[in-house]
Amino acid sequence: MTFQLHKKKEAWSARFSEPMSELVKRYTSSIFFDKRLALVDIEASLAHAEMLNVQRIISDDDIKAIRKGMEQIQGEIRRGEFKWRLDLEDVHLNIEARLTALIGDAGKRLHTGRSRNDQVATDIRLWLRGEIDQIGSLLKSFRSALLDLAEQHADTILPGLTHLQVAQPVTFGHHLLAYIEMFTRDTQRMLDCRKRVNWLPLGAAALAGTSYPIDREQVAQTLGFDNICANSLDAVSDRDFAVEFTASAALIMTHVSRLSEELVLWMNQQIGFIDLADRFCTGSSIMPQKKNPDVPELARGKTGRVNGHLIALLTIMKGQPLAYNKDNQEDKEPLIDTVDTVSDTLRIFTEMVTGIIVKPHAMRAAALQGFSTATDLADYLVKHGLPFRDAHEAVAHAVRVCVDKGCNLANLTLTQLRSELPEVASLLGDDVFDYLTLEGSISSRNHVGGTAPQQVRNAIAAARAILSSQ
Ligand code: ARG
Repeated sequence: MTFQLHKKKEAWSARFSEPMSELVKRYTSSIFFDKRLALVDIEASLAHAEMLNVQRIISDDDIKAIRKGMEQIQGEIRRGEFKWRLDLEDVHLNIEARLTALIGDAGKRLHTGRSRNDQVATDIRLWLRGEIDQIGSLLKSFRSALLDLAEQHADTILPGLTHLQVAQPVTFGHHLLAYIEMFTRDTQRMLDCRKRVNWLPLGAAALAGTSYPIDREQVAQTLGFDNICANSLDAVSDRDFAVEFTASAALIMTHVSRLSEELVLWMNQQIGFIDLADRFCTGSSIMPQKKNPDVPELARGKTGRVNGHLIALLTIMKGQPLAYNKDNQEDKEPLIDTVDTVSDTLRIFTEMVTGIIVKPHAMRAAALQGFSTATDLADYLVKHGLPFRDAHEAVAHAVRVCVDKGCNLANLTLTQLRSELPEVASLLGDDVFDYLTLEGSISSRNHVGGTAPQQVRNAIAAARAILSSQ
């Protein structure tokens, strides 16, 4: 039976007495960004239609026609031939209209027992789940590239900083391991977030459920959802998972941004610890000598937009009464841009890290400046019986003398050292220089989490084991 009550413009316009204003059409349309969901929209529609058929809500002929029509639409989308129409508002109505144009009434039966409200919530979750898996594997490649670099530099010494001032020597491998910890937590956060993304809203219909004898378990199983959203109102309105994902993405970007800041500093000519491969840098249109670290700078800048998306999503949600409100349509642009920004950033950083040129001599020269082993001298005195506070004071005094004289603790002879530290001269033996050297300093920090090269190698092995277990 075919009803042709009147020529409708929009799927819902039968209730209205005048056409929609062009401006409002543009304002309310989401097709230019939600078409990104097209393939998951079809996947979810097919799962819904199969269930309707099993439940005898639509006929065998209907499901056959729907499968065939959707196959053609998938092809059109993949080949870039599908004509997206602004007047059809969003991805759901565009695909449904094309299906109906291709297969007639069976296309009009697809929407039985569902609403765009549970449809869009299902689509976003399906799409985001795939993107999370993708980001998870990008994070793994990035961690693996960082681990390779750390392994090459388990013995390379540079000054560790606090307050951006020379503090104590560390190895470059150890420094990189700090970032590997951050990106490992990021991977875990993504995996954890995925658990709450992977719930099925479909079946909630507009907000209250449906009177058709649907089988939500079947749909969940077909689409690979672990759980079914338990409350229909929450199912259509919840976007916690989107906020959670964006917060996790903002942390990834924050970590990338911190690393970027260091890369930029390390490439500065006064520091000169590294060089980035030319393909990741740009020149200047006026200064011929310039080689600028644009990629890390941009990554640092793009962290701002992802942080902004997090605030946008939180703000979209904060005033919404139950259940679905059109406000939710605004969730897509921040989410899509977050996914794209984080994915591209991780891709490019993995490549960039592989092409870093490390300059161990510059690192070492810097570590020899700034009394980076002063704590080691204090620790030496403590091991020879002096209370730590007294040792601290004695060494601080010696450092001040050296600063005035323009010399370095490690460069003094034992006699000079004894004369600069008269109160503790009797405690100082020849072995003090084992503590004052950079190698002595780092190899003495030989405990889990310390910077001794052996510990760094152990930590790299442990990080590799975690990487392959995820
Ligand atoms: N494009 C809409 C969105 O993204 C789909 C749901 C529309 N539902 C509605 N009742 N207008 O949220």
